[in-house]
Amino acid sequence: MIEIGIIGCGTMGAGIAQIAAQNGHPVIVVDLEAAALEKARTQLSISMQKLVDKHKLSAEDAAQIQARIHWTTNYEDLTNASLVIEAIVENLEVKKKVFVQLEKVCSTDCVLASNTSSLSITSIAAACLHPDRVIGIHFFNPAPLMELVEIIPALQTAPSYTASARKLIDQWKKKTVLVKDTPGFIVNRVARPYYSEALRIHEEGVPIQDIDFAMKEYGGFRMGPFELMDLIGHDVNYTVTETVWKSFYFDPRYTPSFVQKRLVEASWLGRKSNKGFYIYPQEANSLVISSSAEVLKSICDRIVIMLINEAAHALFMGTASKEDLDLAMTKGVNYPKGLLQWADEKGIQVCVNALDALYAIYHEDRYRCSPLLRQMAQNNQNFY
Ligand code: NAI
Repeated sequence: MIEIGIIGCGTMGAGIAQIAAQNGHPVIVVDLEAAALEKARTQLSISMQKLVDKHKLSAEDAAQIQARIHWTTNYEDLTNASLVIEAIVENLEVKKKVFVQLEKVCSTDCVLASNTSSLSITSIAAACLHPDRVIGIHFFNPAPLMELVEIIPALQTAPSYTASARKLIDQWKKKTVLVKDTPGFIVNRVARPYYSEALRIHEEGVPIQDIDFAMKEYGGFRMGPFELMDLIGHDVNYTVTETVWKSFYFDPRYTPSFVQKRLVEASWLGRKSNKGFYIYPQEANSLVISSSAEVLKSICDRIVIMLINEAAHALFMGTASKEDLDLAMTKGVNYPKGLLQWADEKGIQVCVNALDALYAIYHEDRYRCSPLLRQMAQNNQNFY
């Protein structure tokens, strides 16, 4: 079994280390902070014990998994690693420095991966002497439970490294999707309208609980957009939106919302601060839905159509295959179905008409229909 290195043992690094050890690999976890290593080691031991108590893992296996992981503050311990996955702070300059340091200690054929959610893999690779072995391997939180992993080759990545990285992560029983190195990759980009269109509708006067109810009841989503933003944290969710918007050269499709920005400014970050759009703990049945069934359905349709348009446009721009786009949204954010499959079910012409109707009202570029949907409607085509 090849040795796996993990840099940073916060939320993501610790989870990825657990996955690698569960799959039989010797794992070297490096963090600058000895306290962070100790915290992650203790947390892993608690998680393993829970699995043993639930009879999902034998005590022997749990002990072996933990014994496979070596926790260290010393980068030199990575000399035998064949793959290193970096999961430190989301800061390009800091990440570049870490990759330069990795090249000094790792062997020349060791694959160097970043778990970044929003930075360009190409720019990280550019800091390296051998950029052809640098790649993005993006896990979702919590890594041991979420099935999806986005594989993002940089412009410089050699195809053989992309293929071997994908093969390995597939062997870890994850669902991998291949994505071009573009802002937000698949999930963090295609999901933007779920939040931004909901915020827009709310700004126009619809109560948050009505929009949340509409998406769950009529769309089959597990959580409404406002509940979900409160869970993710407005600091994190707003920053992702703003980063995607800036990275797409301020395309109005991704414009952030003042309503959410004010929440961040007030430090009303959601569940973690007991207050966001909702107040926590929430009183059961305290929320009254005031919109009619017809209005609720139209709210759901509007948000789903905007999601479909985003997925279609990502396909049009060659960001990923249609299968991977649909898989990413069902496995990465638990959408009830793939958006392109959903487009087929609604009818492509219906989607185009709905987008054109929004554009006719607002005259904003945000509502422009993807050329792909329009071409497909004209030619009477479906995605599948
Ligand atoms: P975190 O803040 O929980 O942990 C980061 C860890 O890196 C800390 O323990 C810190 O001591 C360590 N560290 C910082 N600089 C270091 C260095 N130079 N060398 C070694 N260790 C260093 O961060 P989190 O949330 O785990 O995120 C890590 C990366 O994963 C980021 O790039 C983030 O964008 C990405 N990501 C985060 C997700 C999340 O939901 N938290 C989801 C998917 C990706």
